[in-house]
Amino acid sequence: MPSKIVVIQGHPDCAPERFCRALADAYARGAASAGHEVRRIDVASLDFPLLRTQTDFERGIVPPAIAEAQETIRWADHLTFVYPLWLGDAPALLKGFIEQTFRPGFALRYREGRLPYGLLKGKSARLIVTMGMPALVYRFYFFAHGLRNLERNVLSYAGVSPVRDTLIGSIKSMDRATCEGWLATAESLGRRGV
Ligand SMILES: Cc1cc2nc3c(=O)[nH]c(=O)nc-3n(C[C@H](O)[C@H](O)[C@H](O)COP(=O)(O)O)c2cc1C
Repeated sequence: MPSKIVVIQGHPDCAPERFCRALADAYARGAASAGHEVRRIDVASLDFPLLRTQTDFERGIVPPAIAEAQETIRWADHLTFVYPLWLGDAPALLKGFIEQTFRPGFALRYREGRLPYGLLKGKSARLIVTMGMPALVYRFYFFAHGLRNLERNVLSYAGVSPVRDTLIGSIKSMDRATCEGWLATAESLGRRGV
C-alpha cells in the first residue's frame, strides 16, 4: 500500500557529488515510482540555531525551519535518514537538527512518574549510513553506538517502529559497480517503502 515517506538528507555538505545525495535521490526515485508520496528535508539547507538550554528544549520557540520539518515528519508514515558517519556518529549538524526537532510535545509527552509517551507511534524508519571503515567493523567492533543511539534513544523512544538500518562501508575504495549496486538497493528500498 502506498505510504507517505519523508527522506531526510543529513549530509552537511550540499555538494551534489556526495554519495549520500545520490543514495537519497535513488531512494526517493524508487519510492515515487511505486506510487508513494515523497517529501524531502535537506538539513544542510535549513536555517536553525543549536539548542543551548533544557528550557529551550522543553518550552522554547521552535524556529520556523524546524516547525516546517516537524510538520513534514508528522505527515509521514515512514522516515528515511541518509547520512555519513562522522567520528562514529551522525554529523553534528544532523544531531543539532534532531535535538531541535525531536522535542517534548512533538516526539514525546512527559508523564508524571512514568516513562514518556512516544508521540510518533505508527511510523517506521530506515537509517542509511555511509562510512569509510568496513560496515562490519562499525557494527561488531564499535557496536554501532552512534547508530543505536539514534535508533533507540531517539526514534524507538518516540514510538517509531520498526527502525531498520542499511550500513554502507569502505566507501573510499568502492568501485563503480559496487556503488551502482548500493544505489539500486536504495531505489529498491524506496520502492518497497521500507
Ligand atoms: C569529519 C569526518 C569524520 C569522519 N569520521 C568517520 C568515522 O568515524 N568512521 C568512518 O568509518 N568514516 C568516517 N568518515 C568518512 C565518511 O563517513 C565518508 O567520507 C562518507 O561516508 C562518504 O560519504 P559522502 O560521499 O556522502 O560524503 C569521516 C569523514 C569526515 C569528513
